[in-house]
Amino acid sequence: MLFNDFKKAYEEDQSKIDAAISRVLESGWYILGQEVENFETAFAGYLGAGQAIGVGNGLEALQIALLAIGLKPGDEVITTSRSAVATALSITAAGGTPVFADTDEYFHLDPALIEAKITPKTKAIIPVHLYGQACDLDKIMEIANKHGLTVIEDCAQAHGAEYKGKKVGTFGAFGCFSFYPTKNLGAFGDGGAIVTNDDQLAVKCRMLRNYGQTNRYEHEIYGLNSRLDEIQAAILSVRLPNLDKNNNRRSTLAALYRQELAGVTEIKLPLERPGAKHVYHLFVVETARRDDLQSFLKGKDIPTLIHYPIPIHRQASFFEYNQISLPKTEVATAHILSLPIHPELSTQDILTVCSNIKTFFAHDK
Ligand SMILES: Cc1ncc(COP(=O)(O)O)c(C=O)c1O
Repeated sequence: MLFNDFKKAYEEDQSKIDAAISRVLESGWYILGQEVENFETAFAGYLGAGQAIGVGNGLEALQIALLAIGLKPGDEVITTSRSAVATALSITAAGGTPVFADTDEYFHLDPALIEAKITPKTKAIIPVHLYGQACDLDKIMEIANKHGLTVIEDCAQAHGAEYKGKKVGTFGAFGCFSFYPTKNLGAFGDGGAIVTNDDQLAVKCRMLRNYGQTNRYEHEIYGLNSRLDEIQAAILSVRLPNLDKNNNRRSTLAALYRQELAGVTEIKLPLERPGAKHVYHLFVVETARRDDLQSFLKGKDIPTLIHYPIPIHRQASFFEYNQISLPKTEVATAHILSLPIHPELSTQDILTVCSNIKTFFAHDK
């Protein structure tokens, strides 16, 4: 069993993917061309967003969004420490200062703790739809509107996830996506996208991703090199139509986990937020015996991971934050375990994981 099975996922669409790659190679145009435009249109259409802008990766999608709103050194951005380090790196890369608030019972930025972190320097909030489930967007948007703050949704783990019937990424000023191969919509390399309904901000993002360029060799602002390439865009266009099917498969596997593990009192199953459609990028359980369970499963060739073993505020690179206290984040970090849930897994695979978990907790004895 693999935690992610990229080869199997490729084989399922091999002829279409091979054809898409050949088409690009034969076109003679490899960066920011028709394939990127086509994918941008399709992805924006899928989400119900005004525009999508293809960029190099998820980190730079967030960084470009922050630069587009004119973030300056000293400006503060409120976010969560329970995320991939890229979330906070995007803020420092854009010259800002991350401010971490603790999480709620769904592992997300807790809206009840945001207002206490707002200062005159606060410019934006980055909620992370961690593990594939929407944050409490009603409350977050309400706070942001009340204080005149920009919301930039980190949707790197939540392609297709919904909140009250609307796709995540379309609530804030920007939705930022990663197409890293592990993601629910993954490329065969790095890739990312920003979505927005604001045409002016979209123009700025397009400039920022390409050296701050307006017309060829005319650079109006400082920018980055963060361009989605034609091959990745062509592959993503093949894969986008399968996203809902794959997300549904993940939900089916999640339901099976819930059914099989319901009686295992030592395991806490992930909560589903009312009104949210979870796309199960990850299936994260909690248990006090996490490390022992992980080693036991490893011994049975069952791969698991911890997302994430060190919260951002405890990383060596974020040493200025190492002493702050985020109790919920810290407790959860010691207990969480991500069980395999990619769409290529079989029902039998999930049953095998569950029966081993039950054996570990001696439920079968
Ligand atoms: C929540 C979150 N934000 C941002 C990123 C950054 O995406 P990328 O790896 O494409 O830069 C990731 C991916 O690891 C992520 O999981």
